[in-house]
Amino acid sequence: MPTSDTSPLAGKHALVTGATRGIGRECALALAGAGAHVIAVGRTQGGLEALDDDIRSWNGPRPTLVPLDLTNGDGIDQLGGTIFERHKRLDILVHAGAMLGGLRPVSHIEPKLWDKVVATNLTATYRLIRSFEPLLRASDAGRAIFFTSGRAVRPKAFWGSYAATKAAMDALVRCWADEVENTGIRAVILDPNTMRTKMRAEAYPGEDPGSLTDPAEIRPMIVALAQAADPGLPVDSVKFSDWKASNVAAPLAST
Ligand SMILES: NC(=O)c1ccc[n+]([C@@H]2O[C@H](COP(=O)([O-])OP(=O)(O)OC[C@H]3O[C@@H](n4cnc5c(N)ncnc54)[C@H](OP(=O)(O)O)[C@@H]3O)[C@@H](O)[C@H]2O)c1
Repeated sequence: MPTSDTSPLAGKHALVTGATRGIGRECALALAGAGAHVIAVGRTQGGLEALDDDIRSWNGPRPTLVPLDLTNGDGIDQLGGTIFERHKRLDILVHAGAMLGGLRPVSHIEPKLWDKVVATNLTATYRLIRSFEPLLRASDAGRAIFFTSGRAVRPKAFWGSYAATKAAMDALVRCWADEVENTGIRAVILDPNTMRTKMRAEAYPGEDPGSLTDPAEIRPMIVALAQAADPGLPVDSVKFSDWKASNVAAPLAST
């Protein structure tokens, strides 16, 4: 259970997408462990409730659970309105929700699947920025963390829809970060490298999961980024492996 010494984010409101499993869930646990009120977004009710149970088991700040499909742009707008009514601001946005969409040659991607991957990985990012920029502006120091992939800069056969949408998301976030440079908002584009999650298993089904990084290892980095004084413009992505190498002694948030 966090103590006042370990609650640097007490009083902050943090929205996390992809909070039902994998990396997003670990981000939500990290932020709650540091004292933030987490607004957890995902489609799987059971995943949201499991997150709630975990946080409540150590008397953490009760999260707000939001079952929402990220392709529902109106739903994102409504969520923005609700957060404004209740809290007047958003301090931290962590956007981890995304889909792989399978691996296949570009010429074999079904139009429906293409549209779904674009809606989930790219259009949702635009809708989140559109709805939450005013709330992040209302914070003393709004921090927005977006998860990218090495495939955005190192595209490879069969990764077309995922690589293209991640590259486009990075470009969108860079443009936005430039637009809000004169505000307190700072955006970070974070490459988690290779982590043991459902998405990774979908991409590499034959891989030994034991050879991959436990996504819980991302926790201290997320807490650090959420309170970074000024990370500057996201000209390059920030890599988990680089951060880990220079923060080897950083302890995991206790949960
Ligand atoms: N794992 C890796 O090695 C790796 C490497 C590079 C980048 N990344 C990036 O890291 C982020 C997290 O990935 P992960 O590996 O943790 O993936 P994951 O285990 O598959 O989790 C994906 C999350 O996104 C949510 N999501 C997917 N589609 C959604 C939709 N339409 N509406 C709402 N939520 C949706 C899922 O929740 P529901 O299904 O409950 O909605 C789930 O919580 C992603 O942006 C991914 O691209 C991961």
